[in-house]
Amino acid sequence: MTCPLDRLTAALARTGMTRFFGRLFADYPDLLMKDQTVEAVGPDRRFKLAGRWVTNFGSDSFLGLDQDPRVIESIERGVRGWGSHNGSSRAFSSVEPNVRAEGKIADWLGTESALIYPSVTLANTGALPGLLTRQDVAVADQFAHNSIDEGLKLAKARGVRTAKFAHNDPADLRRVLAGLRPYRHAVVAVDGVYSMSGALPPLAEFRRVAAENDAVLYVDDAHGTGVLGRQGRGTVLGALGDYDNTLVVGSLSKAFSCLGGFVACPRAVRDVLRLRSNPLIFGGPVPPAYLEAVCTVVDILRSPEYDRLRAKLDANVRHLVAGATALGLAVLGGCVPIVSVLVGPDEATLRAGRFLFEAGYYVQSVVFPAVPHGSGVLRIQVNACHHPGQVDGLLGALAALHRAAPLPGPDAGVLRFPAGVGEAIPA
Ligand SMILES: Cc1ncc(COP(=O)(O)O)c(C=O)c1O
Repeated sequence: MTCPLDRLTAALARTGMTRFFGRLFADYPDLLMKDQTVEAVGPDRRFKLAGRWVTNFGSDSFLGLDQDPRVIESIERGVRGWGSHNGSSRAFSSVEPNVRAEGKIADWLGTESALIYPSVTLANTGALPGLLTRQDVAVADQFAHNSIDEGLKLAKARGVRTAKFAHNDPADLRRVLAGLRPYRHAVVAVDGVYSMSGALPPLAEFRRVAAENDAVLYVDDAHGTGVLGRQGRGTVLGALGDYDNTLVVGSLSKAFSCLGGFVACPRAVRDVLRLRSNPLIFGGPVPPAYLEAVCTVVDILRSPEYDRLRAKLDANVRHLVAGATALGLAVLGGCVPIVSVLVGPDEATLRAGRFLFEAGYYVQSVVFPAVPHGSGVLRIQVNACHHPGQVDGLLGALAALHRAAPLPGPDAGVLRFPAGVGEAIPA
């Protein structure tokens, strides 16, 4: 006799996505490079995974600040000063490092204020529904991050009408907004950097369409924070020159290597979001020690050292993109330290990841649903702290892979991924 929980679990195991992954796990147990345990982290961006020391090209700590002694020291100091956690929702109180970190983020970006959430996912699922009421609408790029989708679903559950527009396509945005009339206000949500392809959105055109259609532009720049723009201020300021009619979401977990996310915005917006973001009211905050570390990272980004880190990071990205292009591979991205190489079918993508792993290099094998069906990619995350020799080593392994099992050529990348992929490599 089974209990309802057993029957529920069995029923869930038969649903689409669970069945898809179940089959993948069963068919390719030795290939799947997912759910592995990292057993140790060493110097030089090397780590021990599944019993093997490899060079890690799968980390979004793009500046290598996860291993920076100043960041680590800030966390230690924060724990000594504040304990492991401040056990209170911010609806009641915030520790001083939280207020200080928000002030420093706003100062660095040049916005009136900033509001820190425990993650970007919680920022999107808090701020998006928080910004909208039932007279309003929300639209998102079809490839926007899952957490934007989840934020829109919550808004929809409260009566907000939602829709998607074609990836990086301002004309389609205009068409979709026209179809949703009449509405009071709209929010247009896009990623600042598309994290699977490295593509950037046409922000200036999006903002123009938004302004003409009673809409606010909302940019989730999780992967641009710290790695694009002057002092790492991200995608928005470089593309738009100011923050007019634009809300910026940034990550404190990726290049920052701390924990959390933020919305940078005018003070009046912050005041409203504080009262209308359920994850902030009903959930706990980022621990104080990590907020101390956020303050330290802002200081690093604003110091002359940042340009040196960025120069190393950009040189590594250019080196990898030039080398992979010369091999005749379909290289996606190139503006940011996420560089994807198209493989195609799921099994071939998983096998390719395994091949590189055996050669001593860890990259992420990304298959559906993170990318369209049959468009699996090797997602390579470049680091400022990779030595050029490590990039050469990875290129050598990619060349060996291409000889052993030929990969698609450059034209295939443009065909598989719509507009915005493969922009010019920064000079
Ligand atoms: C655009 C975007 N938004 C949100 C997230 C999730 O961020 P977090 O881990 O802080 O929830 C990611 C993670 O990759 C992302 O790429």
